[in-house]
Amino acid sequence: MTAGGTICVYGAGSIGCYVGGRLAATGSTVTFVGRESLAGPVRTHGLRLTDWQGASLQVPPSALRFATDPAAASGADLVLVTVKSAATEAAGRELARVLAPTVLIASFQNGLHNAEELRRCLPGWTVLTGMVQFNVVNRGEGRFHHGSEGLLEIERHERLQPFLPAFECAGLPLALHDRMEPVQWAKLVLNLNNPINALSNLPLKEQLSQRPYRRCVALAQDEALGLLAAAGIAPAKLTPLPPRWIPTALRLPDAIFTRVAGRMLAIDPQARSSMWEDLQAGRRTEVDYLNGEIVQLARYLGRTAPVNARLVALMRDAESGGRREWSGPELLRELETAARA
Ligand SMILES: NC(=O)c1ccc[n+]([C@@H]2O[C@H](COP(=O)([O-])OP(=O)(O)OC[C@H]3O[C@@H](n4cnc5c(N)ncnc54)[C@H](OP(=O)(O)O)[C@@H]3O)[C@@H](O)[C@H]2O)c1
Repeated sequence: MTAGGTICVYGAGSIGCYVGGRLAATGSTVTFVGRESLAGPVRTHGLRLTDWQGASLQVPPSALRFATDPAAASGADLVLVTVKSAATEAAGRELARVLAPTVLIASFQNGLHNAEELRRCLPGWTVLTGMVQFNVVNRGEGRFHHGSEGLLEIERHERLQPFLPAFECAGLPLALHDRMEPVQWAKLVLNLNNPINALSNLPLKEQLSQRPYRRCVALAQDEALGLLAAAGIAPAKLTPLPPRWIPTALRLPDAIFTRVAGRMLAIDPQARSSMWEDLQAGRRTEVDYLNGEIVQLARYLGRTAPVNARLVALMRDAESGGRREWSGPELLRELETAARA
């Protein structure tokens, strides 16, 4: 058993199966709670976990406990919540019915307010804000691929200490932060690319190697960074380049960008954003919790965020059967027109 106790992954999809699978593969006791659509393949094939550096781990079905009933979380000492943002409230309510108040909970989700939402549903529990910096793709039949560098980030808390060796041992050491807000904003600014990636219908690396798409990202990020500065929010530095220099790097011509910002392309050629996966699977995307937050911030400041608002609208349209594939020049024209208007 993990030194700190047993771990439950609640909402076992791409992130949950990958993180929980690595913990299970390296000796932790892990319960996965998720949907039957994933439970079936995991029970049949187990988990095959690969990463962008060539690592490959196989966890046999016999070593995995995958349940679809929330009650399976009840024996856990630490619960990692890995549902998409729109599912957080329902997950929180389910957990409140089955967990003892002594259980530690960590949200490993994108967006700004998921841990807050869990705290509302689980008053009296300790809920920590976490963040996943890397990308994981579900390749079907229990195969999950970790396609880019990055860490698991989480707020520092004494109750997390006993679990740190398990994450270390799983090859996923936790980066501890006194304040998560700057980390969350920095990740959100990077995630503004998600709808652009989804609408490009290309793997991330191929999309980011095309300047017109990068210029779209730069427009969305510049808009966001201007609003963050106006609100007095300083995003953390999560990449080799500080956030404010990234739009400039993105606008460089392809040949120079590849040389100067090579590390920004340290991504597996097959990696895609989870927003692309959601769009392809016909699920509602997290665009409201990413680009939509910039639109909200603008509204709060009495300003506008036309580029991010247009990206939200294009994703809404794509989700409801509208256009799903834009070339870089077409998308750039669309966003520049929005910015001018
Ligand atoms: N994938 C990535 O590369 C990546 C990288 C960094 C951060 N993130 C963030 O990490 C979070 C998780 O993303 P993901 O890609 O792992 O999502 P995902 O693949 O959709 O996994 C979430 C799973 O949880 C299930 N679920 C939802 N509500 C549930 C409930 N109440 N009980 C049990 N299962 C439930 C979902 O099923 P249904 O779809 O049927 O609801 C889905 O199978 C998101 O906030 C995402 O933005 C993802």
